[in-house]
Amino acid sequence: MADHYFNLCTLLTLSLSFHGISAVDYQVTNCVADTPGGIRFNNEIGIPFTKQLMGTVNDFIWTTVFQQNNPDDRKPVDTVNLYIVELEVDEGVTWGNNNINISSSFLQGYQGDLKFAYTALLYHEMTHVFQWNGEGQTPAGLVEGVAEYTTLRANYISPAFAKPGDGSTWDQGYDFTARFLEYCDGIVPGFVAKLNAKMRFAYDVKYFEELTGKPVDQLWQEYKAKYGH
Ligand SMILES: *[C@@H]1O[C@H](CO)[C@@H](O)[C@H](O)[C@H]1NC(C)=O
Ligand SMILES: [Zn+2]
Repeated sequence: MADHYFNLCTLLTLSLSFHGISAVDYQVTNCVADTPGGIRFNNEIGIPFTKQLMGTVNDFIWTTVFQQNNPDDRKPVDTVNLYIVELEVDEGVTWGNNNINISSSFLQGYQGDLKFAYTALLYHEMTHVFQWNGEGQTPAGLVEGVAEYTTLRANYISPAFAKPGDGSTWDQGYDFTARFLEYCDGIVPGFVAKLNAKMRFAYDVKYFEELTGKPVDQLWQEYKAKYGH
C-alpha cells in the first residue's frame, strides 16, 4: 500500500511540474486493444508515448503557433481525451470540445513510418482542440488549413504535402491553405497567431486585410504570382 501511494504521488508531481501552471490532463484509451489496429498501436506507439506527445504538441501550439503566452488568451481546456476506436475512413476526428478519435483501421493499414504519420496527425487534431473558430463561423477550409499549418510548422509533413503556390483557392483547406498561411506569415510575422486571436468570438474575411493591408483575394493572386502559377 505504501509503495502504491508513493508511486501515485510521484506521478502527480511529475505531471504537474512537466506542464507548469497550466496543467492539461491527457487521457488516452485504446478501446480496441484486441483488434489488429489496436495491437499495432500498443506495439509501435502506445499510451505513454501518446501522452508525452500530447504535452509536446500542446506546448508547441500555445508557444509557437498561437503565441498565447498569456494563459487568458488560450482556449480553456482542462482535459484532452484521445480514443483509439473503429472509424472506417478518417485517420482521426476531433469532436465535442476536447475529444480526439483515432482510427484503428488507419493504424492497421498504414504503410511506412507509422509513428511519424501518427505524430503529424496529432499535431493536426490537437490544433482543433485549441484553435478559435469564430464561434463556428470560420469556414471549414480555414479551420483545416490552420490545423495543417501546425503540422507544417512542426515539420511533420509527408512528400505529398502541397508545395508553396499549390492550390486553386485560398480556402481550399488542409495543406493548400496551410501553405497560403505560411506565405501570409512571411508577410506579417505571427500572422496565424494574430488571425487565431481575432477568431475568438467571430469571423470576418476582412481579418486578412486588417492584418496585412490587402484583401484575401489580392493576397492569393500575389501568392500564386510569386510561385509562377
Ligand atoms: C468517437 O468514439 C466514441 C467511442 O467509440 C464514439 O462514442 C463517438 O461517437 C466517436 N465520435 C466520432 C465523431 O467519431
Ligand atoms: Zn481536421
